[in-house]
Amino acid sequence: MTDGVAPAPFAHRHLLGIQGLSPPEIGLLLDRSESYVEQNRRADKKKSVLRGRTIINLFFEASTRTRTSFELAGKRLGGDVINMSLSTSAIKKGETVMDTAMTLNAMHPDVLVVRHPESGAVKLLSEQVNCAVVNAGDGSHEHPTQALLDALTIRRRKGRLSGLRVVICGDVMHSRVARSNIHLLNIMGASVRLVAPATLLPPEVERLGVEVFHDMHAGLEGCDIVMMLRLQTERMHANFFPSVREYFHFFGLDYDKLSRANPEALIMHPGPMNRGVEIDSVVADDYGRSVIREQVEMGVAVRMACLELLTLNPAAADADARNI
Ligand code: NCD
Repeated sequence: MTDGVAPAPFAHRHLLGIQGLSPPEIGLLLDRSESYVEQNRRADKKKSVLRGRTIINLFFEASTRTRTSFELAGKRLGGDVINMSLSTSAIKKGETVMDTAMTLNAMHPDVLVVRHPESGAVKLLSEQVNCAVVNAGDGSHEHPTQALLDALTIRRRKGRLSGLRVVICGDVMHSRVARSNIHLLNIMGASVRLVAPATLLPPEVERLGVEVFHDMHAGLEGCDIVMMLRLQTERMHANFFPSVREYFHFFGLDYDKLSRANPEALIMHPGPMNRGVEIDSVVADDYGRSVIREQVEMGVAVRMACLELLTLNPAAADADARNI
């Protein structure tokens, strides 16, 4: 997978986003993840790479698959994993995050995996602690491990990322998954299309290096990958579409709209899915084409690779030596 070239070291202290990573760094993360896919299919899934290390999952927002996936990843590498779920509603948000970070920092964790409803909060936190920080989703900003697991799923099925035509459909405006995927796919040489109603696209969309469509049939034409997004109503403070019924009619993935994509096109969704809203149930469950379950499987392997590279990289050793 590395074409005989020695992998470049992963020189980052934290994984806060895909933006700023280079193609070799993304390639390295995917190659390491690949080695864990096989391990995760064995009866004995455990390694001792992270023995003696402590990973804290700090989730200020609800999560099922991402938190479980990080927990499994840490445990399969032999690390000690602690889960903390906190609500931001009660106290002033800035205070809560920083106080919590400082308290946890004093317990000498090696990695903090953080999810937070505010964009930028995870970066802020990373500046206050002296361990590695992984962004498990900050507001509508970035969700790097989701983009990496999507890339691994695509690369295993299609053998490459570059040159593929990928369409991302739905609530792009509120989606950190879309943002991280757009960055990763652009960096790795795929071409990205977005399909959404104008109300669900971010204002700076043209600057993201994508082609924009408002018509699903036109947007799916000739695509290799169809990525669907959930309507993130918890982030909506206004009405962005007339009704769920109408949304499904124009932007829901069904066989009719899918017929415009390449016959070998893969169907993807980060979950959780709203069946009958952004995707027809029969299409989601069409395992000849839908790789939604595989995405979940790849998630564990990708998070193992991220935890390993961040814990054992030279940047971490350097920071430890300087006691920062
Ligand atoms: C996504 C998220 O939380 O951003 N889910 C996930 O991590 N699997 C997408 C979503 O919530 O719709």
